[in-house]
Amino acid sequence: NSINKFIEYIPKAELHLHIEGTFEPELMFDIAKRNQKKIKYNSVDDLKNAYNFNNLQEFLDIYYAGANVLIKEQDFYDLTWAYLNKVNQQNVIHVEIFFDPQTHTDRGISFDTVIKGIYSALEDGKKQFGITFKLIMSFLRHLDEDSAFKTLEEALPYKNWISAVGLDSSEIGNPPSKFERVFTKAREEGFITVAHAGEEGPSEYIWEAINLLKVKRIDHGNRCLDDETLVKKLAQLKIPLTLCPLSNLELKVVKDLKDHPIVEMMHKDLLVTVNSDDPAYFGGYMNENYQSITDALDLSKKEITELVKNSFKASWLPEEEKEKRI
Ligand code: ADE
Ligand code: ZN
Repeated sequence: NSINKFIEYIPKAELHLHIEGTFEPELMFDIAKRNQKKIKYNSVDDLKNAYNFNNLQEFLDIYYAGANVLIKEQDFYDLTWAYLNKVNQQNVIHVEIFFDPQTHTDRGISFDTVIKGIYSALEDGKKQFGITFKLIMSFLRHLDEDSAFKTLEEALPYKNWISAVGLDSSEIGNPPSKFERVFTKAREEGFITVAHAGEEGPSEYIWEAINLLKVKRIDHGNRCLDDETLVKKLAQLKIPLTLCPLSNLELKVVKDLKDHPIVEMMHKDLLVTVNSDDPAYFGGYMNENYQSITDALDLSKKEITELVKNSFKASWLPEEEKEKRI
């Protein structure tokens, strides 16, 4: 239908995407085979059947297990290249993506291997498809401050490749305050900061991300609606929220997409964007996210256009590039 075509063809930016979350089962089995690594599941179908999550942690356990088969620079290249091919077909023209170095360095893969594979694919994507990009290094919040500091040190030689630092993984019990000192150091080194907050965790974590980590965007942020003062603050400071509808549905952050707060947030003057988070696990890339939220909430072309414009407004593209899109 015409609204789906509209979604497909309009140029978009993706601002909340974990590259490890784009690992499709078929590619996972291919890479496992060439690296002689075992996967707990016998087939692609068995693996896909395991994608049935009651909460964030159940997903994370499977997501980290999947990443175990990534060993060589070529593996990280292939992972990233597959993602870029996919979004290129969906008319995504700019991406700001997360990678989780500790997922790999913790199992003996070098930081250099990870970032070189990802970065060279991003450069090839820019050359071949014209997709511009920013890279965000995300700390795993279930690990300790020392591990995050060590990761930051490892990133310093690659400062020119990394625009920002982020914070992801198990939210409840791991508040932003745990990483205040790491984020202060990261800002001193010139990194922009963002953090996942208010996905499962309380609105207080969003306040901490703003006040202690000085974030420029909140990833998810659904729970801000519990606190009217916070909503006003986010609107006043124009701090974007990178929302992920299908992720919210699959991780039971919302019971039904009809309950998704995206429209309510727009009405409250929040700068909200649509993103895919971990598309290989949640059943859809950018266009499927736009389409499912459009179906559930009966969004108009005008509302979709506003969301797409928001994706460029909230991006870190140079001002003159943004102007062309908004
Ligand atoms: N890592 C990958 N996806 C995530 C999510 N939705 N929340 C927290 N950590 C994540
Ligand atoms: Zn995320």
